[in-house]
Amino acid sequence: MNNRSGHQMTLIDELPIEGRKTLMRVDFNCPLKDGRVADDSRIRAAIPTIQHALDRDAALILVSHLGRPKGQHNEALSLAPVGERLAELLDKEVLLTDQPIGETATRLSKEIRDGQVVLLENIRFHPGETKNDEHLSRHLAALADCYVNDAFGTAHRAHSSTAGVAQHMRDKAAGFLIAKEVKALERVLDANRLGFVAVLGGAKVSDKIAVIENLLARVERILIGGAMAYTFLAAQGHKIGASRIEEEHLPTAKRIMELAAQRGVHIGLPVDHIAATEFSPNASRKVVDTPDISPELMGLDIGPKTAAAYASVLQSARTVFWNGPMGVFEFAPFARGTQVVADAVAECPGWTVVGGGDSVRAVVEGGFSDEIDHISTGGGASLEFMEGRELPGLRALGIRREE
Ligand code: 3PG
Repeated sequence: MNNRSGHQMTLIDELPIEGRKTLMRVDFNCPLKDGRVADDSRIRAAIPTIQHALDRDAALILVSHLGRPKGQHNEALSLAPVGERLAELLDKEVLLTDQPIGETATRLSKEIRDGQVVLLENIRFHPGETKNDEHLSRHLAALADCYVNDAFGTAHRAHSSTAGVAQHMRDKAAGFLIAKEVKALERVLDANRLGFVAVLGGAKVSDKIAVIENLLARVERILIGGAMAYTFLAAQGHKIGASRIEEEHLPTAKRIMELAAQRGVHIGLPVDHIAATEFSPNASRKVVDTPDISPELMGLDIGPKTAAAYASVLQSARTVFWNGPMGVFEFAPFARGTQVVADAVAECPGWTVVGGGDSVRAVVEGGFSDEIDHISTGGGASLEFMEGRELPGLRALGIRREE
């Protein structure tokens, strides 16, 4: 065991993998476009661990999911494009099986030689994967001598290839990506309250309740944007027009604001908005200069005053955790608030961590990746980590927080 982070874990570099068959869970759940990988960052993020194993002549059997095929073979979700991209990045042949388990997978796993790479076809084509099926877990374990998990993005799922298989492997370890993610997120959770700012956006309050509850004991401020802001504003009695809200979570929003007040946590909410009469990428944007929105309009982004206020808070923060866009980022007229926040997080001299699809995209598209301390490869996983939960994929490796 080592304690290079506050979590105890065995890392791949402590595992004897030289010349051994190694089953490695990676998260290659990458967006595809026209049969090719549209964003290979998750593949790149796993390369140091893969290369480490190959440099030690391990015979590597890689396992990943792609999308949610619901236990059925679905050609559109084949890992073939991912295998091609991986082969380019490694400059090495990658043998893809026709099914995640079955005759070819068993044969290739037996025949594979040291330093070779086999990629099992999308593990979610098998109905047992998401059920953490014991039979599938044992089958996967039987393919190799040791197990490495580097799929941080899937660590919040208790599936056969992330949790179940580990129970049947004596020699198991985390990859470098998991170690890096845990260390970065842990640094956020352990940060000093003063100067710790969480920026939370996205559509639903319901997705963020648990993280807000955990953060209320740790942060100085929470800046809220995205459609979830309208539920909070409505709970304060503001008029939110035709904006999207979660009626059933109005009491939750109220309770969160009361708790925040008791704990001295400042909750930032929009004081102005970019609104439109319809939810459309072609809708004409109207600046609403007040927290209240008239009945015919729906808020689709934070307004310029709010964006400037959030940016100014962020520029002097000591620790920032950001998850979720400030508006409908996928529609160009309503992307500005998210872009301003991305810029401000990039300029922040403190420890900055960004997780979640659209917020990561805003940082990457804005050209700010190098200025962010850690861009998490896990949206759901980083959020659950920040909720203070134990992730099943980490628990299965015996990774636990050091007291
Ligand atoms: C992700 O993209 O967040 C991970 O790969 C997990 O995918 P899932 O939400 O389909 O389990």
